[in-house]
Amino acid sequence: VRAQKVEARLKELVLCGEVLRRVADVFEQEIERGLSEQPSSLQMENTYVPELPDGTEEGVFLALDLGGTNFRVLLLELAAGQLVRQQVKHYHISNALRLGTGEELFNFLADCVLDFVKQLGMEDQTFSLGFTFSFPMKQHSISSGELITWTKSFKCSGLEGVDVAALLERCLRARNLQITVRVLLNDTTGTLIAGAHMHKNVGIGVILGTGSNGCYMERASRVQHWEAAHERVQDVCVDIEWGAFGDNGCLDFIKTDFDREVDAGSLLATSFTFEKYIGGKYLGSILSCVLSALARAGLFPAEPAPDALQTAHLSLFEDENCAGEVSRTMTALREVCAGASITAEDARVAQHVAHVISNRAAQLVSVCISTLVRRMSRPHVAVAVDGSVFKHHPRIARLMRTYIALLAPHHSFSLLGAEDGSGKGSALTAAIAARLATRDS
Ligand code: BG6
Ligand code: GLC
Repeated sequence: VRAQKVEARLKELVLCGEVLRRVADVFEQEIERGLSEQPSSLQMENTYVPELPDGTEEGVFLALDLGGTNFRVLLLELAAGQLVRQQVKHYHISNALRLGTGEELFNFLADCVLDFVKQLGMEDQTFSLGFTFSFPMKQHSISSGELITWTKSFKCSGLEGVDVAALLERCLRARNLQITVRVLLNDTTGTLIAGAHMHKNVGIGVILGTGSNGCYMERASRVQHWEAAHERVQDVCVDIEWGAFGDNGCLDFIKTDFDREVDAGSLLATSFTFEKYIGGKYLGSILSCVLSALARAGLFPAEPAPDALQTAHLSLFEDENCAGEVSRTMTALREVCAGASITAEDARVAQHVAHVISNRAAQLVSVCISTLVRRMSRPHVAVAVDGSVFKHHPRIARLMRTYIALLAPHHSFSLLGAEDGSGKGSALTAAIAARLATRDS
């Protein structure tokens, strides 16, 4: 009886094939509208990256990777397309900086670059830098773009509408560094480029981490937004920004009360609602909302303490569920429920909830990927994927393979882990930009 009552509460989170196909139809329509600059919840941003690595990339580059769990500065050396040297340093970004002013944040970024090059004894050298800025931008070229809105855990004042590449360069120059921001790119683009460097047939880049998003190679003629000559460009990488899918209401038919609650409690309410069904920043919160609702209905022993349940717990519950065990789940639940008594059956309920939430996330991200796979209609499409959820969730990759195969039957695809792809991808993109500049001059 308890199981049936729990099931009834979870009903809305369970999406059947028909609903998924409807989501896919809406996604396709929004793609078309976004590409042709009609109102759409999908930005379909032109990244101005027109080609993938061809194995000739050369040079020493700096890279800055901001927007995921880790902020890092990198030095990368490419020779004949191969990465021959890589030095990386991680820096911690405090909450105060994430939520302070944009100027403070960018001065901090420039301080980190200064610290990094000083440590290498290279502060007097001239460098090209690739800036991976994992937020939605309005791009004007491969090296310039304005922040549209913050997402995930950043909300700095005064930066919306500001060209973040120019601002970074200004802060670097103020420190007497001879560093030019050659490319400004999203983490999905970095992942696509890095993936394409490792495997042929890569045409899609996906992040399944704190947030979620994808990019893919689109025919240049289908993209309306161009601020530069593009007659000779065949294809171009488009950053979809699918985290915002449905923000215009077109996807309200899948929104549940749990999602409304997670959105209302998030740093940036009413925006990037699709990301809140999938991203690692939010999966733990959905789990918490559902268990709290079950507790209020007398179906679970206690409500978890606010913010105590993280996505790492969801992964842990899924991991034990796969192994048919409950002991670590019970311990974790006791911790987050302030020592409440938790039975093995309670742990199984929590594991089931974690599975339903994970399954929905896998379904939704698979809808997006399968739509792109179908759209690209190539003999085989490889998808480069990075991000903490993809890396650490014990079965999301497997679920995604199953759902993509169901949603794009007759299409051949593969999912490739592209760990830490964005940093390498930004150096490769800077090298591609240098190649294009010589070709065009
Ligand atoms: C990393 C990229 O590999 O993946 C980051 O270098 C990116 O730029 C990240 O944002 C996404 O993962 P997460 O889980 O850190 O958000
Ligand atoms: C958010 C950002 C997007 C990024 C994604 C993954 O959705 O808006 O630009 O690609 O997170 O990090």
